[in-house]
Amino acid sequence: MENMEFIVPLEKWYLENKRDLPWRNTTDPYVIWISEVILQQTRVIQGLDYFNRFMTRFPDVASLAEAEEDEVLKYWQGLGYYSRARNLHTAARQIMDDFGGLFPKNYRDVLSLKGIGEYTAAAICSFAYRQPYAVVDGNVYRVLARLFDIDVPIDSTPGKKLFVKLASDLLDKKRPDVYNQAIMELGALQCVPRSPHCELCPLSDKCLSLISGRVEKLPVKQGK
Ligand code: ADE
Repeated sequence: MENMEFIVPLEKWYLENKRDLPWRNTTDPYVIWISEVILQQTRVIQGLDYFNRFMTRFPDVASLAEAEEDEVLKYWQGLGYYSRARNLHTAARQIMDDFGGLFPKNYRDVLSLKGIGEYTAAAICSFAYRQPYAVVDGNVYRVLARLFDIDVPIDSTPGKKLFVKLASDLLDKKRPDVYNQAIMELGALQCVPRSPHCELCPLSDKCLSLISGRVEKLPVKQGK
């Protein structure tokens, strides 16, 4: 498989350089779900405290579903985007009512939960169940746009389609959990928006934008 030339150095780099984060040491879909929703709007450093407090008070789907909405919002205080906390609460009740209290395993079922979009469903299904769904978040757009020197705007309809296809083609189908964490971590630590650390990048010898000199011009957004 030709994508091994990306997968092997990327996963090796990840296993040697990853941050030790609590949601990476579990395959509990509930824990992964909560962490991903917190991290959608918050930096890891700030999110850690919220995550730990939230998990202590609401350790599983049932405890979240049984809580009053006001209390859930209290644990979200300061994070902003309160609709996310309301959606978490609603989805926990959906899991109790529609799935017998068991977190669904099927991608379409996961996607049907309130507030869960394609990114979060792919994160849950790959990290918890090792299903072959590629995550595509801001980090992944940046890494892929640079690696393949793509200037199609990431916020356009054709851009989204192109990057989702590329991410799915590249995905390590045998270890989708490791691969997805690895490409996001590369974007978070190495392939950062400004002054990326290309000299330390495990993929620098294959990076087309490093050759063309366009690294810092990518990814392109049409919205600005
Ligand atoms: N940001 C979003 N998801 C993340 C994850 N699983 N680990 C670290 N940062 C993230």
